[in-house]
Amino acid sequence: MNRTWISETPASIGQTVRINGWVNTLRKMGDKLVFIDLRDATGVVQVVAYKPDLDEATAIVVDSLRPEYVLEIEGEVKARGAKQVNPDMITGTVEIAIKSITVLNTSETPPFEIDKDTRAVNEELRLKYRYLDLRSERMHKNLVLRDNVETFFRKFLHDQKFIEVETPILTKGTPEGAREFIVPSRMHPGKMYVLPQSPQQFKQLLMVGGVERYFQVARCFRDEDQRGDRQPEFTQLDIEMSFVTQEDVMQLVEAMMIEMVKTCTPEKRIQQIPFPRLSYAEAMEKYGNDKPDLREDKNDPNLLAFGWVIDFPFFEKTEEGGWTFTHNPFSSPKPEHMEDLMNKKNIGEILATQYDIVLNGYEAGGGSIRNHKPDALRSVLEIMGFTEEQIQSQFGHMLEAFSFGAPPHGGIAPGLDRLIMILANEPNIREVIPIPKTGDARDVMMDAPSALPKRALDDVHIELKNS
Ligand code: AMO
Repeated sequence: MNRTWISETPASIGQTVRINGWVNTLRKMGDKLVFIDLRDATGVVQVVAYKPDLDEATAIVVDSLRPEYVLEIEGEVKARGAKQVNPDMITGTVEIAIKSITVLNTSETPPFEIDKDTRAVNEELRLKYRYLDLRSERMHKNLVLRDNVETFFRKFLHDQKFIEVETPILTKGTPEGAREFIVPSRMHPGKMYVLPQSPQQFKQLLMVGGVERYFQVARCFRDEDQRGDRQPEFTQLDIEMSFVTQEDVMQLVEAMMIEMVKTCTPEKRIQQIPFPRLSYAEAMEKYGNDKPDLREDKNDPNLLAFGWVIDFPFFEKTEEGGWTFTHNPFSSPKPEHMEDLMNKKNIGEILATQYDIVLNGYEAGGGSIRNHKPDALRSVLEIMGFTEEQIQSQFGHMLEAFSFGAPPHGGIAPGLDRLIMILANEPNIREVIPIPKTGDARDVMMDAPSALPKRALDDVHIELKNS
């Protein structure tokens, strides 16, 4: 008999079906009657075992059941009486009268209750047994929402002539502000790969490669101190386009977000369309930060207040009195400030084509139009005090690429974890990342990071300092 998904059982009244899943809860009513709530990836259904109707062997199996046992059940789908209908269950109009039952696997008693919201459980315990936590309804819903949102974005972008391109994970450092994870090379003693903070340079090189419209659901790595909205590895919806203005990128992303909310979370309301725009100066003056929470009612769980923050200063002073970029060294200045950039004049007043999308008080994404002419990128680097040698070693490949007919281009990268966290009304991004790290960057399920045998370190030419 083919398997029937639990969510589909209400459509099979009167039929005998085969269902598979885990024991969510067991309720024994006296000696004769047992209710088994069986759970699969699509939902939970009530299975009724009335022992006088069962043969002896089946009744013995029913008596042996415990929560989280893995079962195969054949039974008849029956409509519930009007009083027994449970409107809170997707299968609340039916129940399954058991005919036969097979235990496919037993289970130890889980370290926490899976049939309830696990939010109150110690988080380290949840993360150690993440595979159990993921069985809980809320976590499963978050996984499904994440998949729905990513699927929506992929389809939306494909419909607009974007292609998804994978870029390397073993790569070279790129100065985008965060500390990087390093991976020692075995074949090249003393040399290191670094994991990408973002695919920034690759996506720009893809524009030189004529891709024109690129996106990637891209894993990014940053060795930063953790917070509720930061993880050492996280996911961006990374986007880059050729022959576009700042306005083009912002409009595309705005349309994409509006459609995504309609499709994936129709219960939500976007506070203001078109999304309001604030200059960095206005945001700082009015809200004291550059990711303002624009919600009119912060208690409304279904309110989404998107906004744009634009006109960021390109450079800021370093502690040593020099200049550094505020966001991204690859950004271009606003067109009216290009002359000052090239002449290295009024540096503190140069504004970047940077645009950040904010949502309910979080920076949900950021992007810019880039310098596609080598001289403009060189000018940025010179303002920041890079020597010719540093420019060549760190950016020589970009300058060279731009000398081969690089098209004007720009892009953006919404942070998927933050976006989904807000859509799911979760308090931190760990709740929407399938297997996240702890606040101090450990994977407690796999026990990473962990020590390696000396031989493995020798292979990659590493000798540990005695600490
Ligand atoms: P940026 O560094 O602003 O831009 O990153 C873009 C978005 O990624 C999310 N984000 C994070 N999410 C979780 N954990 C982190 N540690 C973390 N760091 C960033 C945020 C942020 O807005 N290459 C540029 C994009 C571009 O210019 O196109 C970039 O990475 O939501």
